[in-house]
Amino acid sequence: MASKLFSPITLRQTEIRNRLWVSPMCQYSATARDGMPTDWHLGHYAGMARGGAGLVIVEATGVVPEGRISPECLGLWNDAQRDALGRVVELVHAAGAKIAVQLGHAGRKASTYAWLPGAVEGTVPESEGGWATVAPSARAFGDLAEPREMTQTDIDAAVTAFVSASTRAVEAGFDAVEIHGAHGYLGHQFLSPLSNLRTDEYGGDLWGRSRFLREVVAGVRDAHPVLPVLVRLSATDWVEGGLTAEDVTQVAGWLQDAGADLIDVSSGGNVERAQIPVGAGYQAPLAAKVKDSGAPVAAVGMITSAQQAETLLRLGSVDAVCVAREWLRNPYLGLHWAKELRGDLDAIRPAQLWRAF
Ligand SMILES: Cc1cc2nc3c(=O)[nH]c(=O)nc-3n(C[C@H](O)[C@H](O)[C@H](O)COP(=O)(O)O)c2cc1C
Repeated sequence: MASKLFSPITLRQTEIRNRLWVSPMCQYSATARDGMPTDWHLGHYAGMARGGAGLVIVEATGVVPEGRISPECLGLWNDAQRDALGRVVELVHAAGAKIAVQLGHAGRKASTYAWLPGAVEGTVPESEGGWATVAPSARAFGDLAEPREMTQTDIDAAVTAFVSASTRAVEAGFDAVEIHGAHGYLGHQFLSPLSNLRTDEYGGDLWGRSRFLREVVAGVRDAHPVLPVLVRLSATDWVEGGLTAEDVTQVAGWLQDAGADLIDVSSGGNVERAQIPVGAGYQAPLAAKVKDSGAPVAAVGMITSAQQAETLLRLGSVDAVCVAREWLRNPYLGLHWAKELRGDLDAIRPAQLWRAF
């Protein structure tokens, strides 16, 4: 039987050669702290595209400077960043893969230290190149600095920044964008009742709390009618009183109505004390649940073998799989897995590697 993992999938009008994708992963390697990709990014993303990925999703990329997770994160708020990322796009395309960029705003979890060996936890102070943070409500995440509550003007500016970044992404040649609405970052901060205490139309019930993400998705869709738009959501806060999979399934349907093409289902990140039952494929059942919304979904989290990924797809409960750390361990993962599953290796293997695969 032909491999499902190595079968193509079409999002809107864009065909992606297979369903084994690179999950977004911060590299903290914009070393000049200007949001610009460096040589590391070129090699890193090109490597995994050569390794057979269908879609490479570039790490969380700030739509505004203060939306970066750390000072070393990528940005897409100016044309120089757009042009430099265009080179990453070219290299990935040359290897036959499609490429998306994850557009993000970290809100109250912005201005943290780069998560590299020896990293310190906490907020980077302004004296060290950090900045004051904003969020739906003035409620800190753990020991991080308390954010300022966003005004209507701040919210409008953030929505506009997502749309402008999506336009730069299209100009850079990206095939798709992913809106980061997970892991306790701004979209998630609006969505969760644990971080959104607003009493205006951006707070209150689930419809109000999802307004920010709905506006972002609708804005991007309006500006780019055929651009595939993915949204990463945390399907649960993993704590009593937080977001549930039922809530997020409802939101996924609304986001699909607003123009989203696929929901990339992750979990957690908005509460420090959450007890998360981490294990093989632990978030895949959440993805299957979110698929009840009618939206196509991707699963992510501890998917580390070809058989595991293939089985998830065969069960029909997910449409694609995002893999993160296994790609770091093995940038040629797709070639190994295609060989194992008897996928069409010829279709993805760079000619230079034929004597090894
Ligand atoms: C180094 C690293 C950086 C990450 N950065 C991001 C990110 O930028 N955006 C995001 O949504 N998730 C990020 N994640 C989470 C991964 O995309 C993925 O959801 C998680 O690692 C679970 O998948 P895995 O078990 O295959 O690693 C990151 C994970 C790692 C290991």
